[in-house]
Amino acid sequence: KVPPNLTNEPVKNFGINDQKDWDLLRASITKFTDNGALEIPIVINGEKIYDRPTKPQVNPSKHSQVLANVAQASEEDIKAAIEASKTAKAKWASAPWADRAAVFLKAADLISTKYRYDMLAATMLGQGKNVFQAEIDCIAELIDFFKFNVKYAEEMYQQQPIESSPGVWNRAEYRPLEGFVYAVTPFNFTAIAGNLVGAPALMGNTVVWKPSATAALSNYVLLQILEEAGLPKGVINFIPGSPQEVTQHVLDDRAFSALHFTGSTDVFKQLYSKISSNVAEDKYRDFPRIVGETGGKNFHLVHPSASVDHSVLSTLRGSFEYQGQKCSATSRLFVPESLWPEFQTKLGAAMDNITIGNTAEPSNLQTFMGPVIHEQSFDKLAKAIDQAKTDPELKIVKGGEYDKEAGFFVQPTVVETTNPNHPFLTTEFFGPLLTAYVYPDAEFENIMETIDTATKYALTGSIFARDRDALRLAEEKLRYSAGNFYVNDKCTGAVVGQQWFGGARMSGTNDKAGSGNILSRFVSVRNIKENF
Ligand code: SER
Repeated sequence: KVPPNLTNEPVKNFGINDQKDWDLLRASITKFTDNGALEIPIVINGEKIYDRPTKPQVNPSKHSQVLANVAQASEEDIKAAIEASKTAKAKWASAPWADRAAVFLKAADLISTKYRYDMLAATMLGQGKNVFQAEIDCIAELIDFFKFNVKYAEEMYQQQPIESSPGVWNRAEYRPLEGFVYAVTPFNFTAIAGNLVGAPALMGNTVVWKPSATAALSNYVLLQILEEAGLPKGVINFIPGSPQEVTQHVLDDRAFSALHFTGSTDVFKQLYSKISSNVAEDKYRDFPRIVGETGGKNFHLVHPSASVDHSVLSTLRGSFEYQGQKCSATSRLFVPESLWPEFQTKLGAAMDNITIGNTAEPSNLQTFMGPVIHEQSFDKLAKAIDQAKTDPELKIVKGGEYDKEAGFFVQPTVVETTNPNHPFLTTEFFGPLLTAYVYPDAEFENIMETIDTATKYALTGSIFARDRDALRLAEEKLRYSAGNFYVNDKCTGAVVGQQWFGGARMSGTNDKAGSGNILSRFVSVRNIKENF
């Protein structure tokens, strides 16, 4: 049993006097950077395969620095990984529950103690996070996923049919899915990758894992931790490679039973429709479970009664922490005319204090904002900023510079639009670009209609108000506009076990990471009736 007093993993402060923490972190960073690029293998059935063509993973703060050479899976490798998942299945699926739980509890313990600084360094270097953003991701959230999932699974296994007539015993058996699970994981949270592979594996499934090319380093460190924690061979097979190729072979296999995905709405739609047409053609034994968390165009709605200081600080954090690359990041802002002058001045002043640079530079680990993840992302943002400079409906009110000479740096930028349906208020840019619309105070109700209908997404959103009637109205009117709705708080930073995370509409299947719901998608219940 996991301890009944299960609590969220404390986040280390990395305060000015925490010299030992800083020293250990610097040592881990230099270990990764001073020994040349790490060779990252494909891992099938526990066997590490190095002799394949590779793709570099670079430091997005300093793209001349290759952190890792990542082996790329061939068609044979992908097929071998699928076979390994099938072979490992029987033993893992029938292993005592405690043995499966122990792997994840032990991994959580190893991350917290032995590998904390390696996990932080790998995530900071490869994914461009500062130490605080790395702590809340690859330490706190990852550990919480592993531990809370054990707790939730334990609760689920205990749920049994409540009625039994005399001489009859009814019971529910929580079987793993019959085939294998395909996990497609994102760059932006090491913790999400851990949960996408960890949740199905905990429930007795085996997994083919396609990591993100820009997070291979931290993801490989995590895989090694799971191995050290006792993960049996073949339970999670690590297949970096071409997303299209890996996906095609995996989705064409008859034993494909579930997709566990976090990434863009477009890619998820492609996978969804491929799976649906395969179902229509009887290619699978099961109706596969499809679990996905995708895009967002998340909003902050400020009411005239709101505290300006609080909503400014929340917007600053929601929009620009981790360069706006959280799926939950604030990217559209609605402020009433009466508050906008003060709001804009205070937000601008706060943005003047944002430092930008290499967040994993050992001689200065205090930088707030790092780079965006890669060149495509940089180019998309640069193009949008250029458009904002010429589009008559847009005005850059803060920021607007970018530079990819050394790393993929985009200045935090606020664009004001005069059109509440402008594409800047509907397109996901996935970067530090916030679009603001200033509404007449009397239009509060109507602006909620626009917020609700303008985009296809419904991931996160916040209302800032002191007026209770306004809060109630917003909760009601924006009922389907966000899967995670925040009242007087930023729309990022869901904590496992506290705010169950996920959105509906084109933001995903809303199965709620960090809750027991998601685990139920990776079991197939058998009901057994026994007569005495
Ligand atoms: N769960 C993260 C957050 O809430 C985003 O994926 O910010």
